[in-house]
This record gives sequence, structure tokens and C-alpha cells, in this order.
Amino acid sequence: MFQSLRLFLVVAIGLGLMTLISASDLRMPGNDRGYSPEQPIAFSHRLHAGELKMDCLFCHYGARKSRHAGIPPVELCLNCHLHVKANLDDIFLEKAAAEAEGREERPLLSSEIEKIYQAAGINADGEPLEGQLAESIPWVRIHRLPDHVYFDHRVHVAGGVACQSCHGPVQAMERARQEHSLSMGWCMDCHRQTKRSTLPGDGASNDPGATNPSVDCAVCHY
Ligand code: HEC
Ligand code: HEC
Ligand code: HEC
Ligand code: HEC
Ligand code: HEC
Repeated sequence: MFQSLRLFLVVAIGLGLMTLISASDLRMPGNDRGYSPEQPIAFSHRLHAGELKMDCLFCHYGARKSRHAGIPPVELCLNCHLHVKANLDDIFLEKAAAEAEGREERPLLSSEIEKIYQAAGINADGEPLEGQLAESIPWVRIHRLPDHVYFDHRVHVAGGVACQSCHGPVQAMERARQEHSLSMGWCMDCHRQTKRSTLPGDGASNDPGATNPSVDCAVCHY
């Protein structure tokens, strides 16, 4: 009797944990590490920043001159995607097939790229769609500090801290996710370490141009 009750409890707790863990948006209070929500368009950093080697600041140009890195407007995507309407492999395959069969190439349009046109209020030929206004793509925000914390991208970028130090290997991520906790301890650890490594006699800092980041409360709290 005791045995089976214990077994029942172990299985029940195990199952409970498993459903918790498999819930894709499991978030511990105060720690959003690993948070990687589904986005309205399947945008891939691995493809754009990794394979195509686009610079982070090409799209997140705000990080150089303001607090916020910013998400690029749909017009920036259109610079390329008025021309690139589908996966390149599919386009090449269709080109080869059309040549082999001696017919006209069929225009391809990926459903994900079509969503970019919809947001821009245009059709695949770049003509405005009647009655449809351009709107921004409703990207789901991933990183968010509480309101009582002051954070500024600009000082970090100017100080030579790589995006990856704080966001992890984004260029390898199919879907963007939060890599670090963004807790106070996490900020402090780097501020202290950078300070130590730049003291005279301690050898050069890894980040050229990095100065002594402050650990005063007032620097990060209003
Ligand atoms: C072609 C434009 C483009 C390039 C290049 C690019 N990004 Fe992004 N980035 C986006 C878009 C669009 C989003 C919003 C959708 C998403 O989260 O995937 C985003 C989201 C992010 C986020 C999450 C923002 C949030 O919601 O908290 C981070 C962090 C980020 N990018 C960092 C980087 C880094 C680091 C690089 C360089 C390795 C980079 N990005 C290169 C377009 C780009
Ligand atoms: C500098 C040019 C460039 C910019 C800017 C750019 N892309 Fe792309 N994107 C490409 C290329 C090239 C491909 C196809 C790569 C391949 O198939 O190997 C692609 C592929 C894609 C795909 C996959 C299409 C499919 O069906 O396989 C999506 C989705 C996408 N881009 C979304 C975006 C969004 C959203 C933005 C703006 C935030 C953006 N891109 C900005 C060049 C660009
Ligand atoms: C010192 C750590 C650090 C560095 C370096 C850093 N970020 Fe961030 N990033 C953060 C934090 C913290 C947040 C959340 C900010 C908030 O909620 O106000 C954030 C938010 C973002 C966001 C979404 C919100 C916004 O600000 O628009 C994007 C996109 C982003 N970072 C991209 C980048 C890119 C690209 C780089 C490199 C050019 C970069 N970050 C460098 C820590 C960093
Ligand atoms: C990977 C290392 C790193 C992390 C993580 C980091 N910082 Fe920094 N931070 C720096 C460096 C380096 C500087 C100094 C840049 C300079 O002055 O050249 C700095 C400067 C600052 C400054 C400007 C004040 C000053 O002393 O110059 C503020 C504010 C700040 N950081 C807030 C934060 C907050 C808030 C977080 C956590 C959400 C954070 N930082 C996480 C490296 C980091
Ligand atoms: C380098 C930036 C930085 C410095 C310096 C800093 N904090 Fe924080 N602090 C943070 C961040 C980021 C959070 C939010 C952490 C979170 O939400 O997990 C935070 C949160 C807090 C909280 C709220 C705790 C909670 O559970 O929500 C208090 C209180 C606090 N800090 C006090 C201080 C005091 C006192 C000092 C000076 C000794 C200080 N902080 C210095 C970045 C900093």
C-alpha cells in the first residue's frame, strides 16, 4: 500500500514537472533566461547575421547612439526582400527545372516573405495594396529590465563590449532567445571584473577602450 502510494506520488510529481518544463514559455520569477517566444515572422539571425554575415549594427543601428538598440522597420527588410522573394535554394532549383523543361520560370513567393509585404501594405510587385496601410511587424519583445533600472546600449558599444558578451551567440540562433539572467549580480560581475582587469599592473583589458565601469547604486538606479 505504502509502496504504491509512493510510486503514485513520484509519477505524479514527475509528470507535473515534465509538463512545466515542456511548456515552451516556462519562466522562473525574475529570471527570463532561455526565453525564446515564437515571432510573427520566422526571422533567422543564423541566416542573416551568421550565413549572410550582416553586421548587428546594420539592423540595430540604435545601439550606437541611444539607450535602445531598436528593431529595424519593415522598410529595411524590403531593401532586399523586394528582390529576394523566397529561399535561394528553391529559386535555383526552379531556375534549373525551368531550363531543363524549356519553360518560363515560375515566380516563387515564400509565405514568410509575403508577411513582410502585408506589413508594408504592398503586393509582391511592390505596388500598394488598396485599403491596406503599412504597419509595423508585431515582434514579441524578449529582453526587458524592470523600470527602476537604467541601462544604456550606447556606453557599452562605445566601450567596446561585444553584443555577444551580453546576448550570447545570436549569429547562431535560428530564433532569438535570452541568454543571460540580466540580474543585478550579472551586471555587477562584469562591472567588477572589467574594473579589475584594467587596474595598472593587471595587464591589459580584453576590451580595448573599456574604462572603469562604476558599481555605484545611482549609476543603474534612478
Ligand atoms: C537583418 C536585420 C538584423 C540583423 C543583421 C540582426 N538582427 Fe537582431 N533582430 C532583428 C529583428 C527583426 C529582431 C526581432 C525579431 C526577433 O526577435 O528575432 C531582432 C531581435 C534581436 C534581439 C532580441 C530583442 C528583444 O526582443 O529583446 C537581440 C538581442 C538581437 N536581435 C541581437 C542581434 C545581434 C547581437 C546581431 C548580430 C550578431 C543581430 N541582432 C543582427 C533583426 C536583425
Ligand atoms: C541585406 C539583405 C537582406 C536584408 C536587409 C534582410 N534579408 Fe531576409 N533574407 C535575405 C536573403 C538573401 C535570404 C535568403 C537566403 C537563403 O535562402 O539562403 C533571406 C531570407 C529571409 C527569410 C526566409 C525566407 C524563406 O522562406 O526561406 C525570412 C523570413 C527573412 N529573410 C526575413 C527578413 C526580415 C523580417 C528582414 C528585416 C528585419 C530581413 N529579412 C532583412 C536577405 C536579406
Ligand atoms: C552590457 C550588455 C549588453 C550589450 C553589450 C548589448 N546589449 Fe542589447 N540588451 C541588453 C539589456 C540589458 C537589454 C534590455 C534593456 C531594457 O530592457 O531596457 C538589451 C536589449 C536589447 C534589444 C531589445 C530592446 C532594445 O533595446 O531595443 C536589442 C534588439 C538588443 N539588445 C540588441 C543588441 C545589439 C545588436 C548589441 C550590440 C551592438 C547589444 N544589444 C549589446 C544588454 C546588452
Ligand atoms: C559584459 C560586461 C558588462 C555587462 C554584463 C554590463 N556592463 Fe555596464 N558597462 C560595462 C563597461 C565596460 C562599461 C564602461 C564603458 C566605458 O565607460 O567605456 C559599462 C558602463 C555602464 C554604465 C555607464 C556608467 C559608467 O560607469 O560608465 C551603466 C549605467 C551600465 N554600464 C549599466 C549596466 C547594467 C544596468 C547592466 C546589467 C543589465 C550592465 N551594465 C551590464 C560592461 C558591462
Ligand atoms: C551595474 C548596474 C547596477 C548597479 C551598480 C546596482 N544595481 Fe541594483 N539592480 C540592477 C538590476 C539590473 C536589477 C534588476 C534585477 C532583476 O530584476 O532581476 C537591480 C535590482 C535592484 C533591487 C531590486 C531587487 C529586486 O528583487 O527586485 C534593489 C533593491 C537594488 N537593485 C539595489 C541596489 C543597490 C542598493 C545598489 C548599490 C549597492 C545597486 N542596486 C547597484 C542593476 C544594478
